[in-house]
Amino acid sequence: SRTVARDAQGVVTVGGIDVKTLAEEFGTPAYVLDEDDFRARCRAWREAFGDAADVFYAGKAFLCRAVVRWLTEEGLNLDVCSGGELATALAGGMPAERIALHGNNKSTAEIERAVEAGVGRIVLDSFQEIVRVAHIAERLGRRQRVQIRVTVGVEAHTHEFIATAHEDQKFGIALADGQAAEAVRRVLKLDSLELVGIHSHIGSQIFDMAGFEVAARRVVQLLTDVRDEHGVELPEIDLGGGLGIAYTSDDDPREPHEIAKALHDIVAHECAAAGLAVPRLSVEPGRAIAGPTTFTLYEVGTVKELSGLRTYVSVDGGMSDNIRTALYDAEYSVALVSRASDAPPMLSRVVGKHCESGDIVVRDAFLPADLAPGDLLAVPATGAYCRSMASNYNHALRPPVVAVSGGKARVIVRRETEDDLFLLDVG
Ligand code: LLP
Repeated sequence: SRTVARDAQGVVTVGGIDVKTLAEEFGTPAYVLDEDDFRARCRAWREAFGDAADVFYAGKAFLCRAVVRWLTEEGLNLDVCSGGELATALAGGMPAERIALHGNNKSTAEIERAVEAGVGRIVLDSFQEIVRVAHIAERLGRRQRVQIRVTVGVEAHTHEFIATAHEDQKFGIALADGQAAEAVRRVLKLDSLELVGIHSHIGSQIFDMAGFEVAARRVVQLLTDVRDEHGVELPEIDLGGGLGIAYTSDDDPREPHEIAKALHDIVAHECAAAGLAVPRLSVEPGRAIAGPTTFTLYEVGTVKELSGLRTYVSVDGGMSDNIRTALYDAEYSVALVSRASDAPPMLSRVVGKHCESGDIVVRDAFLPADLAPGDLLAVPATGAYCRSMASNYNHALRPPVVAVSGGKARVIVRRETEDDLFLLDVG
């Protein structure tokens, strides 16, 4: 992130604090989050999209009450996809009308809570859910603003588990075979629902703008069909999240203003061609805001050199604080951050302390050959989908999130303790 630097002794500082101090004060492993960088990314998205659009941060990337406060202050909205995320959003003070509720299997309780709180939109994900949300809103005497999530049928070039625009999957209603048009018909008949727009999310960690452009074109086509059939111009479209970030130097991510321009241009062009007023656009970046703001700070334990192969560098965390390497073959980089070293590079694999060989944090990396127990390593770009997907595997205690800004560090999510484990273990 932006405020990272190395001092004369080779010690890395972030937000004006050096990593040795952070490790002493907060322990390792720890997620170290650069608050100024987080806020700057929020502002970059807001400014790129302008007042005619809304930016909904995708809370699944990483959410806690401090983050909700930053988002609220920086003028972002918030996308939540569970009761827990909704509770966090409300507890953090996000105004309900700036919250969107997602999910392919929202429970009755989740829908009730969202409608009662007055969330700005619920994104309908199936035919059954149209009826479910309508009944709940009716029972509560509300008219709920909704969008319909469609699958536009493009293949996003990303890992299969995080691609969501092809039709053979659990999310959304297909544009194909008139499915989405039928969903619109049904929603328009229900008095307790106010259909405000169409939603598409094509996937995650995407670099190629083409998928977004095809999605935008097809969503505008649906808006055109709706106008022609019902005489109604839906006022909003949401094109989801998914913008990729740089995990290693091989990745070349697009900037918010690039995606904003591409989306605004294509939507404006398609709407002009169809004679539609340009709808209010929204997007849902998660990774692109949270990801680059954070690195995981680990302490090196065992260093095992397998001659002719590689060196296994064990750190004091692993797949419990970063499952992405094991789950998606994700690539990360790593650096020695507690001192300088002139030692030659050695081919290394950074592994965790869990009881399985797939417990890899960084599959291939070059680290100095004099690496020793007690050295500190940093793995960058762990702000998205690491703490939020962390587990207690092997009864690991999930690491804290430490926010740094202006030479000060504070815990925004504390480290788990053994007492926390026993709080749940009530037998
Ligand atoms: N909107 C919707 C409806 C989504 O499902 C997602 C992500 C986003 C927005 C935010 O996408 P982003 O801008 O963060 O790419 N755990 C996986 C990523 C799963 C993404 C799920 N949905 C990973 O670690 O790569």
